[in-house]
Amino acid sequence: MVSEHDIDEAVTVLRRGGLVAFPTETVYGLGCDAQSVAALRRLYAVKGRPAEHPVIVHLPSADALSAWAKTVSATTSALAEACWPGPLTIVVPRATHVPDEVTGGHDSVALRVPDQRVALALLDAFDGGLAAPSANRFGRVSPTTAADVRADLDGDVDLVLDDGPCVVGVESTIIDCTGDEPVILRLGAYPREELEALLGQPIALHVDGQRAAPGALSVHYAPNARVVLVDRNDVTTQTASRLATGERVGLLAIDPPSGLSTDVVLLEPPVSVEDYAHVLYARLREADRRGLDVLFAVAPPERGLGAAIGDRLRRAAGRRVS
Ligand code: TXA
Ligand code: MG
Repeated sequence: MVSEHDIDEAVTVLRRGGLVAFPTETVYGLGCDAQSVAALRRLYAVKGRPAEHPVIVHLPSADALSAWAKTVSATTSALAEACWPGPLTIVVPRATHVPDEVTGGHDSVALRVPDQRVALALLDAFDGGLAAPSANRFGRVSPTTAADVRADLDGDVDLVLDDGPCVVGVESTIIDCTGDEPVILRLGAYPREELEALLGQPIALHVDGQRAAPGALSVHYAPNARVVLVDRNDVTTQTASRLATGERVGLLAIDPPSGLSTDVVLLEPPVSVEDYAHVLYARLREADRRGLDVLFAVAPPERGLGAAIGDRLRRAAGRRVS
């Protein structure tokens, strides 16, 4: 568990330009001072992330919005008021002091107030913005435990604040409020339907490739095992035909069909859609640990959190076999 002393130490590391991994309600973030260009450069180097890809600035509360946004539209303040702290990232026109290293040179900046006690304690104590991408190497599965962070980043992070597994398990929803109409850039933990109800209007989903957003590339969130999305009715035949080729085959599904070959490695089934999000990245990592060649996955219904899970599974499936 994280003590006040740990928070103080983390703040000292951050003020020196160091990197601190911290939990949020979605996934672990790799944080640094969002005003320090040197720290941001190191962050990009550690992540192995292309420099033109922007990062989210985490804030202690919605009060900090006006310090980071050039203008705050009525839509932005309505969303911030209703959804923060929470798993919604809002893209707004950037204030002039926001470094290019944060925005990837864009005119906008992505902001969010996470709903996690350690994250909020850290942000309060730091008293500034923390740039924090997910604490994994570029293109890899996001970490939902401190152990995942250490396994991926190891000695490249100065301090890891361990507050146990993340409650939600998939990344925040990103909404772009810089244009005339809001647009969702990434489906995520904040349900699109709730945002639409809040704003009283349908919200379009971006078309891939329109914006530079690594989380929006079709190949992302990928384990080494090949992920194949499958309809529940086809699981038995598809797993059988893949087993026949001699591959090591696994299955992730809320409600696995009966009568499967005992050679199929059945990953522990999530008990609900919320649980599916909670365990998704852990199961993708497990697929690799267990040496699977192919992981078949049955996606939950495409609404609410289920839409974010389907999105991540499709991106994981977009990876080519090497
Ligand atoms: O839940 C989350 O959002 C987690 C936790 C740590 O907060 N963070 C996270 O960060 O997922 P990252 O860097 O893995 O993904 C951030 C996404 C990227 O797809 C990035 O391109 C997009 O946010 N993004 C950041 N700034 C942007 C901007 N100004 N305009 C458009 N997209 C932006
Ligand atoms: Mg990420």
